[in-house]
Amino acid sequence: MSVSVVPEVVEHPRLTVIGTGYLGATHAVCMALLGFEVLGVDVDASKIEMLKSGRVPFFEPGLPEKLTEALASGRLRFGTDLAEAAEWGDVHFLCVGTPQSKGSDAADLTYVDLAFAELASKITRRALMVGKSTVPIGTAARLTELVHGISPAGQELELAWNPEFLREGYAVKDTLHPDRLVFGVQSAWAEAQLSAAFRPILDEGTPLVVADLATAELVKVAANSFLATKISFINAMAEVCEATGADVNLLATALGHDSRIGSRFLKPGLGFGGGCLPKDLRAFTHRAEELNVGQAVAFLREVDAINGRRRTRTVDLIREIAGGSLVGVRVAALGAAFKPNSDDIRDAPALDVARMLHEAGAIVTVYDPEAMDNAKRSYPELSYANSLDEAVADADVVTLLTEWQEFRDADPDYLGDRVSHRRMVDGRHALDAADFRAKGWEFRALGRPANPNTVALDGAEREGALTFA
Ligand code: UDX
Repeated sequence: MSVSVVPEVVEHPRLTVIGTGYLGATHAVCMALLGFEVLGVDVDASKIEMLKSGRVPFFEPGLPEKLTEALASGRLRFGTDLAEAAEWGDVHFLCVGTPQSKGSDAADLTYVDLAFAELASKITRRALMVGKSTVPIGTAARLTELVHGISPAGQELELAWNPEFLREGYAVKDTLHPDRLVFGVQSAWAEAQLSAAFRPILDEGTPLVVADLATAELVKVAANSFLATKISFINAMAEVCEATGADVNLLATALGHDSRIGSRFLKPGLGFGGGCLPKDLRAFTHRAEELNVGQAVAFLREVDAINGRRRTRTVDLIREIAGGSLVGVRVAALGAAFKPNSDDIRDAPALDVARMLHEAGAIVTVYDPEAMDNAKRSYPELSYANSLDEAVADADVVTLLTEWQEFRDADPDYLGDRVSHRRMVDGRHALDAADFRAKGWEFRALGRPANPNTVALDGAEREGALTFA
């Protein structure tokens, strides 16, 4: 009888995390909190120094506290030496970035290729390299060949793919308690070794999908494409609403009550941005075209186009409310980050709108609670205020572009006493239109009529009398 021998699994593996950006730093911290010994490695020595001293190089609620806790446990350390990582680690998580290439929709794989090649060249024993970066389908298979060719460990060094679905702003929660885990593996050993590395999360009952490499790669881009499509669907409906006098907010509410549709990611407004959705959509389309299945995902180009049109439409609304021209109009732009609770301005709809307003001749003053430094670096041509009060001072139009709580909480009368004209364009459906209108504001929102005849739940209704906003 022949017995297939599965190599031994390290039950409590030592983990390395290569690339300590958003994804890697969070992963390293969380894995240490789950009880593993973790070494985080990055080529950027200043980033490593920050992390070593307990400072997180980006804004993420809750992560600084967790970093402190993980460092204090003695299980988490950081360094810049790949050779040390290669020698020490049993399972290596590679978390380097895959930005959009300059001048193309394709993903730039320079950092991924370099990280895999350099680490593999230094690994001399059985180990597992696990890619977590979002990559075009087929990358993991190509990297497997590359790694086997380079590494002194040869076939003893295996490669797996484990896509990551964390959302900025919820990074710790999403990492410790993900909706599901996906393992793209090539052997029973790799599955068992990866399971050992995720034991505490699996023991919580987290669903696990074990798949081939290509499926694991595809899950990530398909998930982000689906989310982007859902957002663009409701924003396409907003365009129809604008042509018909219908109200997209009520439409989204009614659709969301259908449990087959659901209300999450159905929020209309300025649309999606950030470091993932836009670039993943484009890279996926590009890769599908390379694979001669471009037609299957051609609709994703439209999803991207709908998303872009929301930005120009917001500029048009501001122009309309300002009386037809933006030249010399003072606009207070509330928000810069691509979403609240983040300082990330990559492909941020808010800053795109601010830039277009500026180019059209408006005098734009931007304020964001967390993303000011990043915004100033990338858009030095815009003016910035240090507070909400300062931003709205003497504004002809105020526009809400990122729905921070501070903006949601702002009192219409308090703001109204500071502006020069009470005109609001709400790009995120975050404000109480009826309340603003009741306090003398001209109020516009994407996909909602200028003079709605819908019944509004304002103060008068609470007293028993229905009114029209
Ligand atoms: C996303 C995915 O959610 C996550 O699973 C993946 O790992 C990385 O990309 P993130 O980039 O943090 O996460 O942002 P997300 O919370 O998904 O929001 C994306 C954008 O969509 C934001 O600009 C947000 O404002 C916008 N959005 C979201 C809408 O316009 N409407 C919605 O209903 C939801």
